[in-house]
Amino acid sequence: MHGGAQTTGQIAIARGGPERITDLRALWESLHEHNAVIATQLIELGPVRSPENSWALRRNRYARWLSEPDAFVLLAKGPSRPVGYALVHMRGAEETWATDERIARLETLAVLPAYRGRGIGSALVDAVYRELRALDVRQLDVSVIAYNSDAVRFFERLGLARHQVSYLGTIPA
Ligand SMILES: CC(C)(COP(=O)(O)OP(=O)(O)OC[C@H]1O[C@@H](n2cnc3c(N)ncnc32)[C@H](O)[C@@H]1OP(=O)(O)O)[C@@H](O)C(=O)NCCC(=O)NCCS
Repeated sequence: MHGGAQTTGQIAIARGGPERITDLRALWESLHEHNAVIATQLIELGPVRSPENSWALRRNRYARWLSEPDAFVLLAKGPSRPVGYALVHMRGAEETWATDERIARLETLAVLPAYRGRGIGSALVDAVYRELRALDVRQLDVSVIAYNSDAVRFFERLGLARHQVSYLGTIPA
């Protein structure tokens, strides 16, 4: 089930499961770094975690998600190590809208900074779509940090509907 490979344009993409989690660390840390820059606009949330601490939390979540049925990670191959990944697992239906029973949740899409803007993120999304069609899953959900305007533009171009706005803050003492 895991480990299939496909090529989108010039970009080789491999599918994996929990055995690939350790390969995601540098990529996750680059995304964390990206979020840390954005966090300067979210100063009320306080300081960001160290990359090590962030990865320790994320790694555990990846292990849990990738143990679920039909969850997968797609890795974009680079010269010596992966340069991008997309991690997907399944969630249930929306209660308000008459969606399908299963909706794919794109938990992470990340490309190393030096490789951004070359079509790798788009190729990963195309490959995610192919995997989901094979699973007969037709809907996709993804959240982006407010102020991540590059990523917002990227996802809006995919034609997904702007859905929820979420809030995070401290309860008054
Ligand atoms: C968002 C991201 C996955 C897109 O991957 P990519 O390989 O750069 O994307 P592509 O080359 O296929 O498409 C380019 C588009 O990506 C977006 N983009 C985001 N950051 C970018 C960057 N640093 N350089 C260029 N494009 C970027 C833009 O929308 C760009 O389109 P534009 O021509 O309108 O500027 C990647 O830029 C990234 O890892 N960003 C940091 C992590 C992140 O924000 N992830 C999304 C939240 S889960």
